[in-house]
Amino acid sequence: MIEEHSQETPTVIAIGSGKGGVGKSAIAAAMGAGFAMLNRKTVVMDADFGGSNLHQIMGIPRPAYTYRDFQNGRVDNLNQIVVEHHQYDNLGLIFGAAGSYGMANEKYMHRQRFLNHIRDIRAEFVILDLGAGSSFQVLDIFTAADLGIVILNPEPLSLSEGFNFVKQVVIRTFSKTLRQFPEIQTFIQEHAKTETFRSNVRVEDLILQIQQKDAEVAGRLKTCLDELQIGLVLNKVTNDEQSVEVSAFQRALQEILSINTELLGLIHLDPVVPEGLKAGVPFMAMDPKAGAARDLANLIITKVLHRNRFHAFWDRSSINKKIHEIGKPSGTRMICSVNCMYWEECGYRQGGYPCRLQHMSEIGFQGED
Ligand SMILES: Nc1ncnc2c1ncn2[C@@H]1O[C@H](COP(=O)(O)OP(=O)(O)O)[C@@H](O)[C@H]1O
Ligand SMILES: [Mg+2]
Repeated sequence: MIEEHSQETPTVIAIGSGKGGVGKSAIAAAMGAGFAMLNRKTVVMDADFGGSNLHQIMGIPRPAYTYRDFQNGRVDNLNQIVVEHHQYDNLGLIFGAAGSYGMANEKYMHRQRFLNHIRDIRAEFVILDLGAGSSFQVLDIFTAADLGIVILNPEPLSLSEGFNFVKQVVIRTFSKTLRQFPEIQTFIQEHAKTETFRSNVRVEDLILQIQQKDAEVAGRLKTCLDELQIGLVLNKVTNDEQSVEVSAFQRALQEILSINTELLGLIHLDPVVPEGLKAGVPFMAMDPKAGAARDLANLIITKVLHRNRFHAFWDRSSINKKIHEIGKPSGTRMICSVNCMYWEECGYRQGGYPCRLQHMSEIGFQGED
């Protein structure tokens, strides 16, 4: 178990997708390993309650604790079921109960208890590997996170299921926000069943209609949309031009669902990913210099570590300020360290611009803003 230390609440990152097999689990595990290698205390949790496989991905056949210990009330705190990874000081794991298909439809009450405890986890980042699809369970966990990442593949089915997933996220968020307004809730649910979310009737128009009934409710819905922080990752890329598909996807989300998303990055199709899964080693740790590992490192350094958790997109002026502070003995926490998987080849160490990954990256900061 992870030792106690005083700590702010963690940034919770949920990884979801409409479709299975797109790379959620491989990316969640590798992202956790990547953060840990950068000295950021991280807990990866297997939140695919119906098809747990994090233990296999991490090469740990018989975890000492699983989520079931928390679900059964055998422990009253999620920290008690965090299993430290034997190789990385900064990586904790919460495993699902292997083969426990009964957990797939965990009750609302259990889910709420879990969500009430999630920010008590003692770590800087908590990464939740969700199951496929858009059950209420998946949607409630996804929307409770500080950052929701939707993994897409460059194929039409993945994109259309990804769109459907975000649509369900919006519907669920709206209906939860509107619990105290049953009349409007019914109105939205009717729309969800019929045309609004299915065809060309846009969320914006729906909100306009609601505004005529109740301006306060309409305002709340707009706030909900603004607060949803959704990042996209295009995985299994074979050609960089495939990112065009994501632009079209983002435009559709914007126009139909009034949702702004950020493309966090592309991860190339790379044999290191299945090799890592086979060996029980997250691909970031398997070979940090492999293409997919570099893609993911670039993504976490430039788009996740530098993200201001209270705003949708990071503030470049503040980043630029940090660049000028590099080298000054300030309280800024550096991500550059001998523990970085690219330290050996890092340009910063050789007196150049901060880091080899860096076309966008700077030496990091977290938590001071
Ligand atoms: N970037 C990638 N390159 C090559 N294979 C990948 C990549 N990402 C995922 N895969 C493969 O796709 C399959 C599904 O990955 P997994 O992480 O289990 O998906 P999910 O959790 O979304 O169901 C695995 O066989 C994995 O090796
Ligand atoms: Mg999975």
